Amino acid sequence: MSQRSLVLLKPDAVRRGLVGEIIGRIERKAGWQLVALELRSLDRGLLEQHYGEHIGKPFYEPLVEFMSSGPVVVLVVEGERVIEGLRTLAGPTDPIAAAPGSIRGDFGTIVRENLIHASDSEESAARELKLFFPSLV
Ligand code: RTP
Ligand code: MG
Repeated sequence: MSQRSLVLLKPDAVRRGLVGEIIGRIERKAGWQLVALELRSLDRGLLEQHYGEHIGKPFYEPLVEFMSSGPVVVLVVEGERVIEGLRTLAGPTDPIAAAPGSIRGDFGTIVRENLIHASDSEESAARELKLFFPSLV
């Protein structure tokens, strides 16, 4: 079941020089391909759409502030069960609870600054792909 997932390497990953390390882990999964890759600064409007499910939650404002604090790397990854697989590679939201070996478990400590976003379902992936890469076919 080949799928596409939208991945963001968050501003902390870019600032800390972890882009190569994280992309390397994604590339080394057999059969997965990068189909888009771009360094981009995200504005509030786009973040509001991307993280719309969290509007009104206490962490929403600091999240948008953080996500617009510097450039992110936007990736589209394609491959077998890539949506579930990238969530596994990333680990759970709280890096302290994330197992060593996962990206968040290996490099994170702060819940907000957890290095990576990856689409959490086929529906989210479709919505996010359209939002970030409207012309990608
Ligand atoms: P993401 O959407 O970024 O892939 O992360 P996720 O699914 O693992 O977590 P989600 O619940 O969707 O939360 C989105 C992002 O908001 C920040 N966050 N901060 N309590 C907090 O301070 C808190 N909770 C969430 C994290 O950056 C999280 O990834
Ligand atoms: Mg999420």
